[in-house]
Amino acid sequence: MFKQKNLSPKQLAALTALLLSSLIALSIFMLFSNAKLCITYFVVSFIIIYLLMDQMLEFFIYRKIKLIYKLISQTKATKRVEAYQKYILPKKGIDDVREDVEEWATQKFKEIQVLQSNEAFRKEFLQNLSHEIKTPIFAVQGYLELLGDGAMEDPIAGPKFIKQAQANVQRLVQLVNDVDSITNLEINKDPILKQSFVIQDLISEAVNNLSVKWIKKNIQFQFKKGSESPTYVFADKNKIYQVIVNILSNAAKYGKIDGQVLASVYNMEDDRVLIEIGDDGIGIDEEHLPRLFERFYRTDDARAREIGGTGLGLAICKHIIEAHGETIHVRSKVNVGTTLGFTLASKA
Ligand SMILES: Nc1ncnc2c1ncn2[C@@H]1O[C@H](COP(=O)(O)OP(=O)(O)OP(=O)(O)O)[C@@H](O)[C@H]1O
Ligand SMILES: [Mg+2]
Repeated sequence: MFKQKNLSPKQLAALTALLLSSLIALSIFMLFSNAKLCITYFVVSFIIIYLLMDQMLEFFIYRKIKLIYKLISQTKATKRVEAYQKYILPKKGIDDVREDVEEWATQKFKEIQVLQSNEAFRKEFLQNLSHEIKTPIFAVQGYLELLGDGAMEDPIAGPKFIKQAQANVQRLVQLVNDVDSITNLEINKDPILKQSFVIQDLISEAVNNLSVKWIKKNIQFQFKKGSESPTYVFADKNKIYQVIVNILSNAAKYGKIDGQVLASVYNMEDDRVLIEIGDDGIGIDEEHLPRLFERFYRTDDARAREIGGTGLGLAICKHIIEAHGETIHVRSKVNVGTTLGFTLASKA
């Protein structure tokens, strides 16, 4: 009749009343051998014991359990919670309550883990940011001091130090702009405004605007054979331009002299277009690939050579592509080259 492990308080009260009143009825029968008296005692004692037990369980156990439920639901009991406590909770066995509390504890544990990792992430972000800001600010401070101490009068050192200070201020401006872009993307302040455009035209425009950097290294750009025919994509043109510029400037920064950059555009089956931009530069060691899209992440190579920027470029690209609901990936081999690829929808 009763599931042994999972008795509700009413069932428990009924079971106890049944056992005790049977004992009482049996004793009465043995003492007086009167069946009628025995049944009367059984019924009366069953009712009294049942009511007593029920009240006691309610008072000593279930009120406390209700309190626990109130605490774990944290808020003032809503109508739904109130109804739950009134009608469903009394039918629950202690095991069900234990399961509920365990489920609540697991959920809280997960929430705490997320908070802890967010906290660690925030600390690391601030650390990186202050480090990135410190370097150019101290450099500017140094150059200004040198200029103030007399270098200004020096016809060679004077203009050189001013140029260096300007370059460092430019780096700061770039850093602030990049952090701003990432934050805006994260808080959805900068919504994705999609339109239809030809991806090859946008790539060519970005290549032309970057050509000064490229000329220095004599890097040649071309579309892969079969990728030239105009392909429409449906995306945020300005933001995708930013992605392409980031990838192309990396190809210039980390590309070799007289190198080649190849762009490929593939129509995929599911109304998607895959765009890949590959260089034949220094490449990236396999160990760095999983972290490449993290903010401020730079390979040792980029740090050592002092050619790297702030390490925000690819993080911004990832944010933009993911905000489109698409994916970005990287393939690379040291001294062979690097290919960045991302997908876009071909139509609305
Ligand atoms: N084409 C590439 N070839 C070799 N290494 C690359 C290439 N693209 C990116 N990397 C490596 O990945 C790192 C992260 O790239 P990312 O564009 O995010 O930062 P960055 O170029 O250093 O700085 P930023 O783009 O913010 O000016 C770079 O520092 C570099 O080490
Ligand atoms: Mg970059």
